[in-house]
Amino acid sequence: MPAFDYHAHELYCEDVPLAKIAADVGTPVYVYSRGEIERAYRAFDAALEGIPHEICYAVKANSTLGVLGVLVQLGAGADIVSAGELYRWLRAGGVASSVVFSGVGKTEGEMKIALDAGIGCFNIESAEELAVLDRVAQSVGKRARISIRVNPDVDPETHPYISTGLKQNKFGVAMAEARGLFREAAGRPGLHVVGVDCHIGSQLTKTSPFSDAIARLVELVQGLGKDGIKITHVDIGGGLGIDYGKGDTVPSPAEYGQAVRAGLAPLSSLGIKLVTEPGRVIVGGAGALITRVLYRKNNEAKHFTIVDAAMNDLMRPALYNSYHPIRPVERPDREVCPTDVVGPICETGDFFARDRALPTLDAGELLCIGAAGAYGAAMSSNYNSRPRAAEVLVDGASFTVIRARESYEHLLAGERLA
Ligand code: LLP
Repeated sequence: MPAFDYHAHELYCEDVPLAKIAADVGTPVYVYSRGEIERAYRAFDAALEGIPHEICYAVKANSTLGVLGVLVQLGAGADIVSAGELYRWLRAGGVASSVVFSGVGKTEGEMKIALDAGIGCFNIESAEELAVLDRVAQSVGKRARISIRVNPDVDPETHPYISTGLKQNKFGVAMAEARGLFREAAGRPGLHVVGVDCHIGSQLTKTSPFSDAIARLVELVQGLGKDGIKITHVDIGGGLGIDYGKGDTVPSPAEYGQAVRAGLAPLSSLGIKLVTEPGRVIVGGAGALITRVLYRKNNEAKHFTIVDAAMNDLMRPALYNSYHPIRPVERPDREVCPTDVVGPICETGDFFARDRALPTLDAGELLCIGAAGAYGAAMSSNYNSRPRAAEVLVDGASFTVIRARESYEHLLAGERLA
């Protein structure tokens, strides 16, 4: 049964009516289904059965403490891209040893914090970063476990802003340079080479780019073996897409697992562990943004539904022109007509949908913007001095406010008059 579904004409998350959450907590509010996070995690885990593996959840997809807590309980590790994400992960009860640290711009301060915590692996993205980490690790008397992120120059066929594995992208080290850099790393006293890594992009809707990237990693691991460098894990990043309800087809975790298994088969005798960094596929479908209709209006030929959520709450449509499913919380079976669903922010980019077929809603009615569990709350801001939305985790018939709606005092935190 889907996590967000109608029970007689009324939309629920698990066993809780969304209207009840909106009445108790106010709107806009992010609602997550604990059951759906667990289901998605277990499906992904099961798809990799038979391969020794570790799932390092990409914290950036949704870094709310209460969501991280669910992942910790499921036994996930974490893929982080900042010391702030490490802080959150540890505060949620996560262990440092199952953390991988990605990103092209780690600062020395962040490296020290991560070394001090004892993270599992730094995913190194350039020769300069390699040299800095070596120096920093030696200065604190540690040896940093590292992998080198390579750029396999594979087209993930996704939105250009979230493609990362093409040679024109800023990520990773060119394949041609990778082997030399691994040899250099192996000779540095502050570093311990343990893995190879790549991440080619997000919201991938085919398995072939993963297979192509894995083939290049396999070749690299074999080459490193000849150089006497023993690799203990291969990290293939995240990126598996989800269904946003626009009729896109996405591979199931099982199909993804099959492609990964086939790709890694040449390494199976080497006892190498697979590391993955999924974000969206774990939390994307488990969250929705609930918003209330404020006004309706017609401008010439267009009809607008103005809601109390805005691009500061969910910026994916504004940033990537992305599609999110939108449903009325009550009485879905009304006649529909096209409307633009827009927020109160003073920009034309502040929209959730254009010409979407929806019932003509009255002011005060609720809308559910679906598939918003990943890169929704995590990318929200205070633009237009709007306090950030509350976040709620539903578990069966009960729910917990895992993040309170921000107050006006919060808006000014840290500020002062000159
Ligand atoms: N690993 C690394 C190194 C990453 O950069 C990312 C995402 C992931 C893992 C997780 O990818 P996922 O499994 O979630 O696709 N804000 C955009 C997505 C940006 C993705 C950035 N990197 C969006 O809303 O679509």
